Amino acid sequence: MATRAATKVNQPHRLGFLATLRKDTWWIEPGLIAVFLTVFLGYLTISAFIDTAWEYEVGPYLTPVFEPRLAGPFDAWWFSPALLILWGPVGFRATSYYYRRAYYRSYFLSPPGCAVGDALPKYKGESRFPLVLQNLHRFFMYVALVFVPLLWIGALQGFYNSEEVIHGETVSTGIGIGLGSIILCVNAFLLMMYTFSCHSFRHFIGGGLDCFSCSAFTRTRKRLWDRVTIWNANHRFFAWASLVWIVFTDLYIRLVANGTVNDPNTWGF
Ligand code: FES
Repeated sequence: MATRAATKVNQPHRLGFLATLRKDTWWIEPGLIAVFLTVFLGYLTISAFIDTAWEYEVGPYLTPVFEPRLAGPFDAWWFSPALLILWGPVGFRATSYYYRRAYYRSYFLSPPGCAVGDALPKYKGESRFPLVLQNLHRFFMYVALVFVPLLWIGALQGFYNSEEVIHGETVSTGIGIGLGSIILCVNAFLLMMYTFSCHSFRHFIGGGLDCFSCSAFTRTRKRLWDRVTIWNANHRFFAWASLVWIVFTDLYIRLVANGTVNDPNTWGF
C-alpha cells in the first residue's frame, strides 16, 4: 500500500489535478513566475513592435531589442526590423532548459510542482510534436553565440556619440560616457553570461569526450568545462537577471529618447 502511494507521489500525472501530500506553499513559486514571465515577456513583445527610430535610439544608445542595428534595405522594411533579429534570442530562451521548467509549471501546470497532480492525464515527455522541437535548443545556442559579440559591439558604441543635435540642443560628439553606456555594458554582460551558463553550451565545451586527460586539447576543454560548470550552476540567476535587465535597459533608453528621463553623460544631452 505504502509502495503504491509512493509510486503515485513520484508520478504526479497519476494523482488528480493539483492533488498533493505537500503541506508547504509550493504554489507561490509557479504563481510568481507566471506573473513575472507575463509582464517581462509581454513588455518585450510590445517593445519589438514600437519601431519609430526616435523611440528606440538616442545619441550613442540603441535599445538591445533592436541590436544589431539593421541598415540599408531593412530600414525601409514595412515591419519592425526587431522582428528580423529576435527569432534567434526568442528561440534560444523559449527552448531553454530552465525556461521550459518554468513555463511547463507556471503556464501548462504540467506538473505545477514536484509531487503535485498534473493538469494532463498522461505524461508524454518531449518525444512528440510539438515539444520535440525543444531539441532545437542546441542550434539556437549557436545563434545566441553570434549575438554575444554583437551585443558587446552595441554596448561599446554607447561610448561614442556622432549625433550633433539631440532634443533640439547642440551637443558634443566623440568618445564619452553616460549612465546609458554603463547600463548597456551590464546588459551585454548578463546576456553573455546567460549564454555561457547554458546547459547546451556546457555540453558544447566539454561534452562527448571519453577522456579528459588524453591530450592538451582535451585537458583545455576540461579546464573550460570546469569553469562553465560553475556558471551553469547559476543559470537560473542569469536567466532572470538578463531578462529583467534587458527590460530595464530598453525602458531606460526609450525614456531618455523621448525626453522623460535625463541621462547623466559627458556629451551634454
Ligand atoms: S539557455 Fe537555458 S539551458 Fe540553454
